[in-house]
Amino acid sequence: MYIKKLIATSLLITALLLPVFMQAQKNMITVSTNKIIADVQPTMWGIFFEDINLGADGGIYAEMVKNRSFEFYKPLMGWTVTQSKFDEGSVLVTNRHEQDAANPRFIRITKNNAADTLALTNEGFRGMGIKKGLRYDFTVLYRQETVGLKLHVQLISMEGKVIGSSVFTPSDVISKEWKNDGVSLTATDTTLKGKLTIWFEGSGKIGLDMISLFPEDTWKKRPGGMRADMIQLLADMKPGFIRFPGGCIVEGYDLGLRYQWKKTLGPIEQRQLIINRWNSEFAHRPTPDYFQTFGLGFYEYFQLAEDIGASPLPILNAGMACQFNSAEVVPLDELDPYVQDALDLIEFANGDSTTQWGKIRTAMGHAAPFNLKMMGVGNENWGPQYVERLQIFSKAIKARYPDFKLVNSSGTDPDGERFDFLNAALRKNNADIIDEHYYRRPEWFLANANRYDNYPRNASKIFAGEYAAQSDKTVSIDNKNNLQTAIAEAAFMTGLERNAAVVNLASYAPLFAHIDGWQWTPDLIWVNNLQSYGTPNYYVQKLYSTNKGTNVVPALMDGKAVTGQDSLYVSSVIDKNTGDVIIKVVNASVNAINKTIAITGTKKLSNTGTVTVLKSNLLQAVNSFAAPQMVSPVTATVAVKSGKLNAALPANSFSVYRIAIQ
Ligand code: AHR
Repeated sequence: MYIKKLIATSLLITALLLPVFMQAQKNMITVSTNKIIADVQPTMWGIFFEDINLGADGGIYAEMVKNRSFEFYKPLMGWTVTQSKFDEGSVLVTNRHEQDAANPRFIRITKNNAADTLALTNEGFRGMGIKKGLRYDFTVLYRQETVGLKLHVQLISMEGKVIGSSVFTPSDVISKEWKNDGVSLTATDTTLKGKLTIWFEGSGKIGLDMISLFPEDTWKKRPGGMRADMIQLLADMKPGFIRFPGGCIVEGYDLGLRYQWKKTLGPIEQRQLIINRWNSEFAHRPTPDYFQTFGLGFYEYFQLAEDIGASPLPILNAGMACQFNSAEVVPLDELDPYVQDALDLIEFANGDSTTQWGKIRTAMGHAAPFNLKMMGVGNENWGPQYVERLQIFSKAIKARYPDFKLVNSSGTDPDGERFDFLNAALRKNNADIIDEHYYRRPEWFLANANRYDNYPRNASKIFAGEYAAQSDKTVSIDNKNNLQTAIAEAAFMTGLERNAAVVNLASYAPLFAHIDGWQWTPDLIWVNNLQSYGTPNYYVQKLYSTNKGTNVVPALMDGKAVTGQDSLYVSSVIDKNTGDVIIKVVNASVNAINKTIAITGTKKLSNTGTVTVLKSNLLQAVNSFAAPQMVSPVTATVAVKSGKLNAALPANSFSVYRIAIQ
């Protein structure tokens, strides 16, 4: 009797508790740390760099003088001449094209009367950011024609005050040779939009070229180097790769304006400037003073990749200009020089000093190879004209370097006829890596978290080469880097991570934008002349790349990947190097959600871990120069009990859990 009663009571309790238990199970996300689905490639999360939005000139390239060699189509653009008495020809733009085709123009200063005043002022790239106490190095190429002029070099604040000065006295040797020299000066104040003025004392005649000003505090203190604050933001991401130099800039408006890496090497005065294709691309964001000086060239890009521990990923022109612009193509029987450029680039990066191009790299200061393993042929090219050119490139490159990986373009969009045509053609040709681009609304990113779930595993790999959620629409000037776009990208990226078996590289685009000189928004990092800040989107990228892990493991709810159920998106990896499990959870709903996360498959689970959360009460929240950390991750500890943790997921948030399992 007693036994019967006991059984009946047990059954009743089970019946009552089962739904609760099942509900609890239903609510649970289970991460199985011992079931490896895929390896995460070291390259997985990288960065995309292009000289757009004053990304290079006026951006990471720390040169402060705009139009330093007078080669802009208006030779004195960026310069103003001030003189007490008008003197015809006192500043004469002179062209020596016959002797120096790469750097034809210079200016000749003639001052006949020592009592007159004559000055040149450079406005910089939307002004010059000058910092109190910092040293600035002024250099100039000059040629004395009549001795007698001294150059007073001055830093001028926004208010017009002299905040640094020095005198440069050219050598008193009259010569036909050009001489490079300069002086340094220290700023006595800080200004956001300063200027450089050179006023000429005495009388005489002198030729001037390559008038340059660099701050002392460049990245790694390299003279003529890069802006340290901007590069630090990249280094902090620990990116797996850096794609350069673009983007559409690779293609150029027409073939004459395509990016040619060989012209970006050697002495900077010999790097022939060209117009930047973003100069006039958007009528609503004209940038008439945007040129590529190539002071930042391919050698510097490789060096940057090495500095920040990223694999270099150069993208080369495929013999096609931008198909939105001229759509010019080089005839197939004239493609050789383009293919040769690709072969030579591999030699430049990897060859030893006995090779033609390895010798050039060595002479530039880098005897060790740059370890180039992959390259893109073409950016956003499409159609059969691309496929036939690509085949010629691929054949030649693979014949010489069979293990070298080639990235192929799948055009501008992740769907549609052009995409379908290319996707099929590239796969038929066994493309190593296919570059897919998506500039879409946040809803698209949420709906596509499962995009790669059914992509073939043993075929071409994917490079999510350019993506950014557009709060308005592509190329709209109203697009904002707000929390909503960042959350949508984070959700989509759970799908990239879960599918690391097929997705091997991914990068947000574009990378940088100057607040007074941009053409395209949204962008990952915004800068002015003194400051730079990461957007909420930057923090999403950084949270992924600094929590990359080594292997994907399942994170399932009700036995399924979490790709939007309850507005949640989840992926997880283990990191064999640190012995952690890392779980990324996006709550894309307007409500806070509580979930239990069970971590199975390990006996050595720590009873505490960390959770780093990116959130805000406002979906439209953005960062700014005034509040650069308004939306930025905050880390706290979490308790783990009996293999479970309680995930309190704030509304519109991205949380990264990290727990030791070894
Ligand atoms: O990222 C900005 C531009 O978008 C890139 O240059 C191009 O590849 C894409 O269309």
